Amino acid sequence: MSKQFPADFLWGCATASYQVEGAAHAEGKGESIWDRFSHTPGKVKNNDTGDVACDHYHKWAEDIALMQELGLKGYRFSLAWPRIIPTGRGEINQRGLDFYNRLVDGLLEAGITPFATLYHWDLPQALQDRGGWPSRDTAQAFAEYASVCYEALGDRLQNWITLNEPWVVADLGYREGIFAPGHQSVPETLAAAHHLHLASGWAVQAFRESGQAGKIGITLNLAPIQPLTDSEADAGAADRYDQWLNRWWLDPIFRGAYPEGIHALLEAQMPEVREGDMQVANTPLDFLGLNYYFRQMAEQAPREFLDVKVSYGSGPKTAFGWEIYPEGYYEMMTRLAREYGVEDLYLTENGAAYNDVIAADGEVHDPERIAYLQAHLEQVGRAIQDGVPVRGYFLWSLMDNFEWAAGFSMRFGIVYSDYPTLRRIPKDSAKWYAEVMARDGVG
Ligand code: FCB
Repeated sequence: MSKQFPADFLWGCATASYQVEGAAHAEGKGESIWDRFSHTPGKVKNNDTGDVACDHYHKWAEDIALMQELGLKGYRFSLAWPRIIPTGRGEINQRGLDFYNRLVDGLLEAGITPFATLYHWDLPQALQDRGGWPSRDTAQAFAEYASVCYEALGDRLQNWITLNEPWVVADLGYREGIFAPGHQSVPETLAAAHHLHLASGWAVQAFRESGQAGKIGITLNLAPIQPLTDSEADAGAADRYDQWLNRWWLDPIFRGAYPEGIHALLEAQMPEVREGDMQVANTPLDFLGLNYYFRQMAEQAPREFLDVKVSYGSGPKTAFGWEIYPEGYYEMMTRLAREYGVEDLYLTENGAAYNDVIAADGEVHDPERIAYLQAHLEQVGRAIQDGVPVRGYFLWSLMDNFEWAAGFSMRFGIVYSDYPTLRRIPKDSAKWYAEVMARDGVG
């Protein structure tokens, strides 16, 4: 299948601060919840930490040169809140801001459009100590931090993303507890979710008030949820989980209300929702960011959250165990246009982990990643042809990096990170992607 993309399509790669920067204590940076979590034995595979990671904090110029060589048109990265405001609120760390000043200037000089995510999970630990996302104050602190960023960088940086995957922040951080801060409480989860909605809405309002030029959106991780069997019970389970993973985010943002079905089930555990909160969540955005990796199967399971147990589908898997299901990408893109009227969609993450090695010839051959990307980009092309307003695609990830609870064991990069030497080695997929970008198409 051959698919052509519009000539102004923004081809890029994505990374996130804690996953690539390293320099965990450099130049006044404060501690984040991921610093604390990764240094707590047993939380991250092999007790890996992001202390050094890819050392992008020092190698940023080399990394921009690499992006330029590959022909990236866009680069999505995140700003580390504790680098900029070490205790979350109050005093600004100019040296932290200067790092992002250098990065943004360097990208612009290289002709690469920067997209900055304000929050990709590295909450200042000081704010966690005061309650974290389950506390409403954190949302207010986020809007203040966002304003600092607009003021410092907004004259050059004109594409902003408030939050990365708030579902993950709330669910994996406060319910399942497999990500920082590692709590396991449904009321905390629901409070975190609500305050993430407020944080994003207030940050968008602050952006409008700043008078800065540019666009702002949010990035959600969304996926089709399918019933495991054709039983009515599993159909109900799939619907409830769809309301949690997808609609708990989409409905407040685009319709100003939580989905009624599971809201009724969760009501007794909900935080205070004040008058006007849902309008804040409903603040109009300039674009939506979609992260897509896999679909999920749902089955009725009493004693589980929402009486649902989810699992991966039965198709082939990546090294992470994530099912390869490119059709789901098309399904989500078309659903966003059809059901939510999304007019500008950026695909802010998509990619695959494989157990890459440096071969005898010194190269890294990753045909499976190329096949994964090719299949997913074909679905993107198909969605564009069917009228979905997709504006750009950011591949996850530019280089192998700290993959959260999986540490360095999962390699998502199109560039291989040789951690002992910090050398970057473009994989076969990087060369393949360079061609895709150069000719605006796959196939
Ligand atoms: C997403 C995260 C990103 C990366 C990929 C593999 O959920 O946003 O940081 O870890 O998964």
